[in-house]
Amino acid sequence: RQIEGSYRATTHQIHTNHLLSTNYNLRHLPARSERSSSTMSLTNEADAYFAENPAPPSLATAKKQLDDFISTHVAQNRRVVLITSGGTTVPLERNTVRFLDNFSAGTRGACSAEYFLKAGYAVVFLHRQWSLLPFARHYTHSRNFFLGHMSETADGGIEIEDDYAKTLLPILRAYKKTQKEGTLLMIPFTTVSEYLHLLREAAMSMRPVGANGVFYLAAAVSDFFVPSSEMSEHKIQSGDADSMATPVTGAPRGKTLNLHLSPTPKFLHHLISTWAPTPALVVSFKLETDPGILLAKAKQALRRYGHRLVIGNLLKTRSWEVVFVENGQGGKEEDERWKEDWIRLEGGEKGKGEIEALIIPEVVRRHEGMMKEVAGSNGNG
Ligand code: PMT
Repeated sequence: RQIEGSYRATTHQIHTNHLLSTNYNLRHLPARSERSSSTMSLTNEADAYFAENPAPPSLATAKKQLDDFISTHVAQNRRVVLITSGGTTVPLERNTVRFLDNFSAGTRGACSAEYFLKAGYAVVFLHRQWSLLPFARHYTHSRNFFLGHMSETADGGIEIEDDYAKTLLPILRAYKKTQKEGTLLMIPFTTVSEYLHLLREAAMSMRPVGANGVFYLAAAVSDFFVPSSEMSEHKIQSGDADSMATPVTGAPRGKTLNLHLSPTPKFLHHLISTWAPTPALVVSFKLETDPGILLAKAKQALRRYGHRLVIGNLLKTRSWEVVFVENGQGGKEEDERWKEDWIRLEGGEKGKGEIEALIIPEVVRRHEGMMKEVAGSNGNG
């Protein structure tokens, strides 16, 4: 359904979490079918989406990189994981000055990539541009800024503090190994449309990997977007905004903007059923802020899309606890089917280390179990 939202646009860059979308004072408009018969003549919602929202110019290059990277690793019989990381944006204008953003620093994805590399996987890292990257994430401007740990020597060389060098060494080694083996391919996206075009290509490129593949979908994807056909070409002027606005009592003239946001089709369904109908392990993430609905939402995703594993996390506790929810398909009763396993960092919030050091070995263990099942059902087990 089309959704109309209204809010005051006071800053150039509007940050929002898609989970806060009720802040937009949403009200439902007529179904899309009543508004656009040409769109609905395309039976498949994904086809309709891709027809309406043009591919990024970088798509052909990305496709070639994906195919080359994946065929190299398939030839070596290496496992391959596709990680999505960071949040997508929803531009409000084609020449974009303002956009809605989705919450995610990219920590989960970047950190997970390092542990998958350590476990011997080749990694396709589909990430929000300028979000955290594997290896580089240890040295951002706000964390461990490297210049602060270096000094100039008398002969004009550079000296690195001993303690700093000690922590840097294992990261440097892992990075150099990854470079030497060519096991990391990084592809950036910014908008939700770029993300979805790239995800579709990447999923199709992953087909030859078969059961050796994992989809690890940690990106925070915008649930609502402005269709290309409805997007303003140029920067929306505050003077124009008045003509589109439902006046709010007491609001200054020309300062209110109504946004029409359409729901983004649920692409997980298409990924599993059409783009990559391989025996790969599909792991999706579920972020909630209300602990009371996390498990129900994770189970709903498993029921709806028919994949194997959802990793649930709460906004406030996501860096020290997650829950693996799996559709065990064993019990007769609904309640017996679900397997829920909490993974917690010892010491909780103040615990040492990274929760991804626990998450990835557990995903790998489940992937190996699934690979055995697939080999067994093919008569190779
Ligand atoms: O990067 P950090 O700051 O460390 O934060 C990490 C994280 C909290 C963002 C991450 O751990 C996480 O939970 N990511 C998923 C966020 C989320 O709940 O997204 P979602 O509800 O929009 O999507 C859930 C799943 O459905 C995702 O796997 C997504 O790929 C899929 N989806 C979403 C929207 C859509 N239109 N189609 C989809 O298929």
